[in-house]
Amino acid sequence: MRLLFLAVLRPHTGNAVTAQRVRAHLEAAGHVCVLKDAFDFESPSEIANLILAENCEAALALHLYRGGRLLQGHRIPFGVIFGGTDVNEDANQAEKNTVMGRVLEEARFAVAFTESMKEMAQAQWVDPVFTREVKAKVKRAAGVRLIGEMPQEDLHAVVKNCFAVVNSSVSEGMSAAILEAMDLEVPVLARNIPGNAAMVKHEVTGLLFSNPQEFVHLAKRLVSDPALEKEIVVNGREFVRMYHSWQVERDTYQQLIRKLEGSTED
Ligand SMILES: *[C@@H]1O[C@H](CO)[C@@H](O)[C@H](O)[C@H]1NC(C)=O
Repeated sequence: MRLLFLAVLRPHTGNAVTAQRVRAHLEAAGHVCVLKDAFDFESPSEIANLILAENCEAALALHLYRGGRLLQGHRIPFGVIFGGTDVNEDANQAEKNTVMGRVLEEARFAVAFTESMKEMAQAQWVDPVFTREVKAKVKRAAGVRLIGEMPQEDLHAVVKNCFAVVNSSVSEGMSAAILEAMDLEVPVLARNIPGNAAMVKHEVTGLLFSNPQEFVHLAKRLVSDPALEKEIVVNGREFVRMYHSWQVERDTYQQLIRKLEGSTED
């Protein structure tokens, strides 16, 4: 495959060394790698011309902001490699952060050199491949709207105006959103997985479903049974209050025990 590889190639920089190494890997696998300095290009149209002239079928960028940005919208698949300043500096500037998020959405893959860089990137822009899948699914589903991130107070106001909060996650975790919904006195419908079932007791603090049919059935029941709704809301609120104090108590004891451990060493 003929690949365009955009990187920041100022001599003696870490990026330049990395770019040469990555190029060697790709060429060893039989690809042709056209390595160019991202700083030599100002606009996407210059890149478009380059892609055409070099007959490139795909592209790679080392540095999301400086390189990846230039690869957007050319209709050739591309991957990106995080550069150090991507996560440490550029991501802190709102405008650059947005650009980088879009680059990640369009990129087929993203490489981070360290685990901590990966975690920071994931925290900044959730998983691009998954985001793409979700957006495509939502587009095909009638009556479903995807709403972007919003400040927590706004989100709480929106939730408070909803009839119910649904968590259909199939992957385990601890849902802060469920606790928040209970606190806001909004009924919760959640998929029956251990993480959710730890908080939602079926027909007590919420409703648990295992498949789409069950979800539809329970949603209809909730809509038509105000007494059930009221009971769930009251129990949910009670649970959150207890749960919070339980968590505070646990944290306090754990900190206290650490003090004891310290004193045995003395
Ligand atoms: C949904 O539930 C899962 C499992 O408890 C959790 O990891 C996830 O954060 C929840 N998401 C929302 C939006 O509630």
